Amino acid sequence: MSKVKSVLFVCLGNICRSPTGEGVLLHSIKRQGLGSRCIVDSAGTSGYHVGQTADRRMQDSAARRGYSLLSRSRQLTHQDMLEFDLVIAMDRENRLGIESVNSQPLARIHLLSDFLDDSWPIDVPDPYYGGDAGFEEVLDMIEAACPNILSTLLEL
Ligand code: 4NP
Repeated sequence: MSKVKSVLFVCLGNICRSPTGEGVLLHSIKRQGLGSRCIVDSAGTSGYHVGQTADRRMQDSAARRGYSLLSRSRQLTHQDMLEFDLVIAMDRENRLGIESVNSQPLARIHLLSDFLDDSWPIDVPDPYYGGDAGFEEVLDMIEAACPNILSTLLEL
């Protein structure tokens, strides 16, 4: 039996983009019967919203596509960087935040857009201060990236 593989999605607040990464990838993993082979989690580079459920607007947009966002916000830790096989930042600022707690470069750090072709933006835009379209764009990018994320994870 192959080793369990783990992936951590990271954004700023851990209430919009990274909980969506977690929820969409988990949905796909469960549908494919791979639940025993993967661990999926999410965290924020900030502690602004620790303990909170995902933003209601993000939850509603995700629910319309069949996804449940069940996580509660927590802040990224140094231990995360030691434990997760793959760490996926939603934008370049998040990646800088991750690198600032990453004194030992053990985890593999990527941008979500590393799993997309060049027609997509480099950063998953922060939807927090915008309108509904921003939440849909978050879902579009994450849905498009998840098949590549899953195949990368299983090949580690
Ligand atoms: P997230 O979105 O990083 O995708 O969870 C945000 C949530 C909250 C804030 C900014 C971005 N905020 O400034 O409180």
